[in-house]
Amino acid sequence: MLQTVSKAFFTSLAGSTTLKDFASTYGMRGRRSFARRFIAGETIEEAVEAARAIEAAGMSHTLDLLGESVGSMPEADAATRGYLSVLDTIVSAGIERNISLKLTQLGLTIDRATCVDNLRRILDAAATNGFFVRIDMENSPFTQVTLDVFETMWQQGYRNAGVVLQSCLPRSLEDARRMNELGARVRIVKGAYREPRGVAYQDKAQVDAAFVEITRLLLSHGAYPAIATHDPGMIAAARAHAAQHGIAAGRFEFQMLYGIRRDLQAQLTAAGFRVRVYVPFGREWFPYFMRRLGERPANVGFVMRAIVADR
Ligand code: FDA
Repeated sequence: MLQTVSKAFFTSLAGSTTLKDFASTYGMRGRRSFARRFIAGETIEEAVEAARAIEAAGMSHTLDLLGESVGSMPEADAATRGYLSVLDTIVSAGIERNISLKLTQLGLTIDRATCVDNLRRILDAAATNGFFVRIDMENSPFTQVTLDVFETMWQQGYRNAGVVLQSCLPRSLEDARRMNELGARVRIVKGAYREPRGVAYQDKAQVDAAFVEITRLLLSHGAYPAIATHDPGMIAAARAHAAQHGIAAGRFEFQMLYGIRRDLQAQLTAAGFRVRVYVPFGREWFPYFMRRLGERPANVGFVMRAIVADR
């Protein structure tokens, strides 16, 4: 209940331009800037530095050039060119080749065909250079179209991409079965967006139960699933299922967000599991940052302390 209210509150604040202007001016500046805990930086160079540190700690990463819901074709084109340049920089830096992106960043809300063209430009460059591309899942108005676009690309032979399913949506169990049939890679998450009753479970216990059910299905029948959560209960359930069914640690990975539960990331790595850290970066960090605050109201205290300490 608290989590639902908190998500709603932060979703409404995410639309405030005044707050966005304030955050954009102060959020990433200074040694103790409050957004840096969750965002690797505003430039690709800062993201590469974070990625190197993650590799040095024995983990993998996926780099996400932040941005979503662009409002015009030129913006969608600019985001696409931004990603192409990120791929070049990753190749020159010699770090692992794995990125995450959002379809609304590539123009999905403006024109689906243009979005697909933009995605194809990225997938082509990614395939040439041995990248894996994860298509993040956005809020429920985009679930079906995101899966449709993914499947179109899959049928056209693009196998260097995977999707995300959200356990808050009752439909995701069926979607997971479909992805298993295709042999496509799935990242399972709980879901970061405020969703209406009737579309999504409102009760955390139901979201958690569905997460465990889908995780088991993916572990037993999926293609290298990614179990993306910071919840020790979900992680324990995944580990128990893998152990019980003799599923080796190399056949799946855990994923966590940059700056969240670093202790757990290190523990799982030390225990021999694969851990991938999602590294967001770029100037358009405000909506992502607000979702992280909405997930855990205690983070607001952390932000306030950082702001006060900076004055
Ligand atoms: P839950 O919210 O129950 O939290 C469990 C524990 O984790 C908390 O008690 C706390 O200790 C810690 N924690 C969780 N969130 C925290 C935060 N913000 N700050 C500090 N501690 C926190 N969602 C989506 O809709 N589409 C997507 O494509 C993705 N992609 C994605 C990639 C990766 C790698 C991860 C880890 C997550 C996503 N998500 C996502 C976000 C996901 O849907 C979900 O909102 C968050 O992971 C929080 O849920 P948990 O599973 O961690 O559990």
